[in-house]
Amino acid sequence: MLLEMLTTGPTVADAASDVSTVLLLILLLLLITAWSQTHRSHIPGPSFMSGLGPILSYSRFIWTGIGTASNYYNNKYGSVVRVWIHGEETIILSGSAAVYHVLRSAHYTARFGSKAGLECVGMEGRGIIFNSDTELWKKARTYFSKALSGPGLQRTVGICVSSTAKHLDRLQEMTDPSGHVDSLNLLRAIVVDISNRLFLRVPLNERDLLLKIHSYFETWQAVLIKPDIFFKIGWLYNKHKRAAQELQDVMESLLEIKRKMINESEKLEDDLDFATELIFAQNHGELSADNVRQCVLEMVIAAPDTLSISLFFMLMLLKQNPDVELRLVEEMNMVLSDKGAENIDCQSLEVLESFINESMRFHPVVDFTMRKALQDDIIEGTKIRKGTNIILNIGLMHKTEEFFPKPKEFNLMNFEKTVPSRFFQPFGCGPRSCVGKHIAMVMMKAILVTLLSRFTVCPRQGCTLNSIRQTNNLSQQPVEDEHSLAMRFIPRTTQTPHSH
Ligand code: HEM
Repeated sequence: MLLEMLTTGPTVADAASDVSTVLLLILLLLLITAWSQTHRSHIPGPSFMSGLGPILSYSRFIWTGIGTASNYYNNKYGSVVRVWIHGEETIILSGSAAVYHVLRSAHYTARFGSKAGLECVGMEGRGIIFNSDTELWKKARTYFSKALSGPGLQRTVGICVSSTAKHLDRLQEMTDPSGHVDSLNLLRAIVVDISNRLFLRVPLNERDLLLKIHSYFETWQAVLIKPDIFFKIGWLYNKHKRAAQELQDVMESLLEIKRKMINESEKLEDDLDFATELIFAQNHGELSADNVRQCVLEMVIAAPDTLSISLFFMLMLLKQNPDVELRLVEEMNMVLSDKGAENIDCQSLEVLESFINESMRFHPVVDFTMRKALQDDIIEGTKIRKGTNIILNIGLMHKTEEFFPKPKEFNLMNFEKTVPSRFFQPFGCGPRSCVGKHIAMVMMKAILVTLLSRFTVCPRQGCTLNSIRQTNNLSQQPVEDEHSLAMRFIPRTTQTPHSH
């Protein structure tokens, strides 16, 4: 008996513990399933995996860049994908109907980004681009709209033509011994000069300002979606903080000069520039000094960060498509023959317009835009909760929509027929669209006409849009390493691009 007990006793105990282990496991499994269910949505995307999914998708965004990660997820899961950024549910949309819905709706007039990151670059509750304080954003936007549309637009052509010509006249200073020019820097110099002459009108050190704008942009994209811990690690964060501060300091000193100029001028000009209007708004207590500085900063960086890179891509594309260059030059010769570039009628340059549009479709600098849902909503049957982050993957939309006859190629045929606006949105539309979209088109046309009527460009041997290294984080940009962005500027001796 004792022997029996001794032998069966532990067996019963073993069985009991086995059962309880199994029960415990089942319970745990049920708990995990229930937990996962609460985090599961019907929207396609990576799975939650007890919290591992959000960490993995966030890491992908930080590691590969926002644009690259968005393309990855849309390509893998389709045109509506749910991921997580910073632990927050984020929906990436690349279908035209869904994108168009968000663009035009008043429910998505905010953007998302790390609060500490936006504070670092001075954009939290200030300026316009990432300002999600709706009241302050609206106020700022009226000043931007006024400066970027209406009577100012016509003045723009003359300023663009003269500024481009001035820089081309001094091309020798920017040419290296092998006869190449750092084309992106040249375009940036032209564009920042134009922005200053349009919006600020103070003497400035172009080269120094460009370097600081560049570092500011690097910081902006480095901090935009970083986790809070990043901002506590001094050796990682301090250089970014410093880069942002340096551009803010330059802006402050330029504004100081501007204030002096206003105080000393005998009478005010009829058309007040952007900076003057903002200084007056500050004097009347309508905008804070910090906000004025941030608005001017954003106005000055907007074009160098977008337009100059778009123009760079266009010059590369032009060289890869000589037939298009030929058509462009023929059109320019016909339209501009007796008018001179200052008086160009932008409407009549149809080939140029198609070329610009097709370039922005095929190789955009702004590949996506970020929004936040301010209300619950339903997009094509998908429930969107208030507070959800939204990424509109416009770049992918332009390449996957059925509308374009050659969606995967660079081909002006894509713009032969009028394109309905829902299929082509390089600047966005609706209340939070690019406030500079009209002036940007005018600027690109005026700069291209001036440049291409004098020069044909030739990228360094073997350099094409496919071969140069690029990143796609906050926007799509070439990596500015050694020589790959260098181009030769060859004067046009006769009227055709093949003249040399
Ligand atoms: C090729 C040139 C440009 C492209 C492709 C471009 C594209 C864009 C896009 C896609 C947006 C976001 C729109 C949205 O969320 O729906 C945007 C916003 C903005 N753009 Fe542009 N842009 C360009 C040039 C400019 C220029 C020249 C300026 C001003 C001088 C400018 C000023 C702005 C501002 C201030 C915003 C923020 C508007 C807001 O949040 O209310 N952009 N741009």
